[in-house]
Amino acid sequence: MYNDNPTLAGLQKEIDEDRQGEAFYQDVINEQEGSKFFYIESYGCQMNFSDSEIVASILAENGFAATRNMEKADLILINTCSIREKAELTVRKRLKIFDALKNEKPGTLVGVLGCMAERLKTKFLEEEKLVDLVIGPDAYRDLPKLIATAEDGDKGINVFLSREETYADISPMRLDSNGVSAFISIMRGCDNMCSFCVVPFTRGRERSRNAFSIIAEATDLLNKGYKEVTLLGQNVDSYKWENPESGEVVNFANLLEMTALVHPKLRVRFSTSHPKDITDEVLFTMKKYENICKYIHLPVQSGNSRVLDLMNRTYDREWYMNKVRRIYEIMPDCAISSDIIAGFCTETEEEHKDSLSMIEFARYSMSYMFYYSERPGTLAARKYEDDIPLKVKKRRLQEIIKLQTAISLERNQEDIGKVFEVLIEGNSKRSDQDFKGRNSQNKMIVFPKADGLKPGDYTMVKVTDATSATLKGNIVG
Ligand code: 5AD
Ligand code: SF4
Repeated sequence: MYNDNPTLAGLQKEIDEDRQGEAFYQDVINEQEGSKFFYIESYGCQMNFSDSEIVASILAENGFAATRNMEKADLILINTCSIREKAELTVRKRLKIFDALKNEKPGTLVGVLGCMAERLKTKFLEEEKLVDLVIGPDAYRDLPKLIATAEDGDKGINVFLSREETYADISPMRLDSNGVSAFISIMRGCDNMCSFCVVPFTRGRERSRNAFSIIAEATDLLNKGYKEVTLLGQNVDSYKWENPESGEVVNFANLLEMTALVHPKLRVRFSTSHPKDITDEVLFTMKKYENICKYIHLPVQSGNSRVLDLMNRTYDREWYMNKVRRIYEIMPDCAISSDIIAGFCTETEEEHKDSLSMIEFARYSMSYMFYYSERPGTLAARKYEDDIPLKVKKRRLQEIIKLQTAISLERNQEDIGKVFEVLIEGNSKRSDQDFKGRNSQNKMIVFPKADGLKPGDYTMVKVTDATSATLKGNIVG
């Protein structure tokens, strides 16, 4: 998610790649005699990466081993994202490469998983002739059966969206793991209906996972040596699970507290928060527990009330600003990040300036920034004209990125001289003489190694230098 020394374009490229283009590869794992091999690439949000770990677990139970070498694979899977057109184009390009491989090695199966599978359904099989499997986000349990169908020469498709599926009982096979931090999916789907967003259509209705299965997963990760968990959902603040035996209701603040209590040295993060749903109870729970990281991803999308209304975000500029004030009031050391869309339907120059001034007001530590991309079937596509010319969208986006980069730099420079507890994640990208790790505020800090320290350890680091994306420092004490 971070770039050690970004140029403006570089920063956005990094963000884009992080959000929608990053593939992960694994050494062969779980191989047993007679194993078939699967290869999986994931695109899109953290939720998708988390889903791929569920898929991997289901496949491992069914005699498949993971390989990082797609040429070796009997089954190639691509877990897809539909959020912007660009994300879908990336997937199409990858499919061309898989097609070529399939031509060379007949019998290899290619499967499309996730949001694009759900959005395009059978159309996928018409458009991409060499795809054998199309499986939506709620149908992964059906994979073994569908693979058998495809092995018999038929197409395997299941895009059924469920109201109950949470994969609560499946222990994810950690694929892209640094052994230090892991994602835990706490809910699925989304009921928000933001007008620009395809997610409610591709991931279905919102449902929350059994709280005890979440705590069991966090405990299991701790026992395996992990030091940080990120609770994942499209809108974590609306997490709500009722214990069928006791009738007791667990809300997100309760779940956060339960996770924080797993162990004081297990850090807890969460994403994504919706400004309309994040409560004081959540904020005070964050404040109460040192191991709940002081970082909130609170997407604003636009800084203008009229545009927010068109986006169906159900809050206005004032409401959002009050949330930001409240967060800094309760936790002055909390970092806030955002998602911002430039050039939504009918957005004027003045309204765009409201997004810029919001960045200045909220003083985000960082943001994911996009220009609006119309998605078929969404409320906005049906109701509003995508009338801002691409050139204007791109220029507005550049203005947003430029300002956010300047604010990120300022915020990072404010940290020079401060000492933070850092959880070591591994070697820095640039040098194996340096470690990288994050502080509670989710800022990446790079610092020279010291004897006896290893990934997964905590250490105190004093910040000596800062770019807009990274802090640099030295171990102290
Ligand atoms: N166009 C551009 N950006 C979008 N996002 C969601 N849908 C669209 C779209 N149609 C952005 C939002 C969201 C993030 C995950 O992606 O900012 O919070
Ligand atoms: Fe992409 Fe949204 Fe689906 Fe995640 S939920 S993969 S961001 S479309």
